[in-house]
Amino acid sequence: MKNITLLGSILLALLAFPALGAPIKGEVSYKENVFPILHDYCLSCHQPGGKGYEKSGLDMRTYQSLMKGTKFGSVIKPGDSFTSIIIQVIEGRVHPSIKMPFGMSGGLAKDKIEILKKWVDQGAKNN
Ligand code: HEC
Repeated sequence: MKNITLLGSILLALLAFPALGAPIKGEVSYKENVFPILHDYCLSCHQPGGKGYEKSGLDMRTYQSLMKGTKFGSVIKPGDSFTSIIIQVIEGRVHPSIKMPFGMSGGLAKDKIEILKKWVDQGAKNN
């Protein structure tokens, strides 16, 4: 009987917290969710002096510089993650040789990619 109660409690806890480890529900925040990923995985190369910036012109230090994009134009199409260059290069859909983060084996973790996609699909807001 005790064991059954315990099992019940575990199941209840799992039901109560379905979001644990899963992608964020609701609105994704640039400040809280997106920037920390860019900071940890992209910024070292995508700021003046970094090789991503030197080659493409893409500076990820601020929301404004991110939205400005590369020297060829914007890499984010608000509302459409599928055609946004930033998502395409992270998923390696442009060309394997320019999969981002550049040179990182395995690439960005799926849950982080989902956060970035969701943010773009929700309009890539400065929120
Ligand atoms: C180790 C350095 C490095 C890291 C880390 C890095 N990049 Fe890059 N990035 C580059 C280089 C180099 C280029 C230029 C590639 C080229 O055109 O050959 C580039 C280009 C890009 C471009 C422009 C692609 C195009 O089609 O013009 C985007 C978008 C981009 N990176 C996004 C990211 C994102 C997002 C991250 C983090 C998830 C990231 N990068 C991390 C080095 C890096």
